[in-house]
Amino acid sequence: MIKSFAPGEIILFGEHSVVYGRKALAVSIEKGIETEFFSFDDIRVDSELGTLKASLGTDAALEVSEVSEPLKPFVNMIERCFSYAGLEKGFKAVIASGIPVSSGLASSASVSASFIAGLLAYLGRYIGKKELLDMVFSSEIDIQKRGSIIGPACAVYGGMVEVSEGVIKNHPLPGDLGDIVIINSKEKCSTAVTVDMVKSKLDEDPDGVQKIFDDMHRIACDGQKVIKEGDMSSLGILLNENQKYLKILGVSTKKIDKCISEIEPYVYGTKITGAGGGGCLFSLIRDTCSDKVRGIAENLGLDAFKAHFRGHGVEVNGERI
Ligand code: MEV
Repeated sequence: MIKSFAPGEIILFGEHSVVYGRKALAVSIEKGIETEFFSFDDIRVDSELGTLKASLGTDAALEVSEVSEPLKPFVNMIERCFSYAGLEKGFKAVIASGIPVSSGLASSASVSASFIAGLLAYLGRYIGKKELLDMVFSSEIDIQKRGSIIGPACAVYGGMVEVSEGVIKNHPLPGDLGDIVIINSKEKCSTAVTVDMVKSKLDEDPDGVQKIFDDMHRIACDGQKVIKEGDMSSLGILLNENQKYLKILGVSTKKIDKCISEIEPYVYGTKITGAGGGGCLFSLIRDTCSDKVRGIAENLGLDAFKAHFRGHGVEVNGERI
C-alpha cells in the first residue's frame, strides 16, 4: 500500500491579483488530502466527490464508461501518470479529505499533488518537487483552463510560498502569528466562476481594476515585511485592506461580510482565502479571543477551527519528496 499526503493552504495575500502577475503569499496548513493506493485488477477511485470506475483497455488505453464532472480530473491525472511512468497498472485509490472541498483551502491542488505523487510511487516512479509541480499545475490548467500556480506550489512545497509574476519563492514559516482561526462560510466557491467574474470586471474597467491589482500587490509586499517583524496589528490592517478590495471585486458574500463585522472587535484582521464567492475566511485573533470568534461564527451557522501551519509539502509513505 502507498499512502500520500498534500497539505491545504491559506492565501495570506493576493488571490485574484496573482492571476494577473501580482504578488501572492500563501502558507500551508496541517490539514490536507490523504490518498491510499491498493493493488486492484481494475481502476477505482473513491472520494467524497463519488466513485470513478475504469478499466485498462486492450490497447492499454483507459476505458471509462460514464464519468461525472467532479471526477473528470482523475481521468486526466491517471492518463498523465501512466504516460509519465510508461506503465499502466490497476489500482484502487481511497481519498480522505481533512479540509472542506471547494472552500478556498486549495483542496483541488492538494488532491492533485497527493494523487499524482502517490500514483507515481505506486507505479514505481518517484518524482522530484519541480516535476511534480509541473504535472499538478498542468492538470489544474487542463481542468480549470485558468488560474495561477500559487495553490499547486503551496501544496507541493509547503511552508510559506510567494508567487510574483509567476516566479515561485519558498520562505520559512512565519514566526508566531498568535492564533489563526479558519471560518468556513459553507457557501461553495468555484475558482472558475470567480476568476471569470473578476475578468469581466477587468474588461469593463481596465484602468480601475489594474489599479486595484497594483494596490493588492503593494499590500502583499507590505504584508510580507510586517510578517517578518511579527507586527500583528499592522498585519491585521493589511488583511482588512486586502479584504476590502476582494469585496470591491465582487468575491465576498453577505454571509461573509456579516461574520467579518461581528468578529471585528476580537481580531486584528480577517480576509477571505482563495477564490471567494463563499468558501473560507481566516482571522488573526487578538489575545485569547479564539473561542469567542469560533462561538460567533458557529452561532451564525458557520464552521470554525484553529489553523496550524505546516513547514513542508507533499509526503509519500511519511517521507518528504
Ligand atoms: C484560488 O485559490 C486563488 C485564485 O487567485 C485563483 C488562482 O490563483 O489560481 C482566485
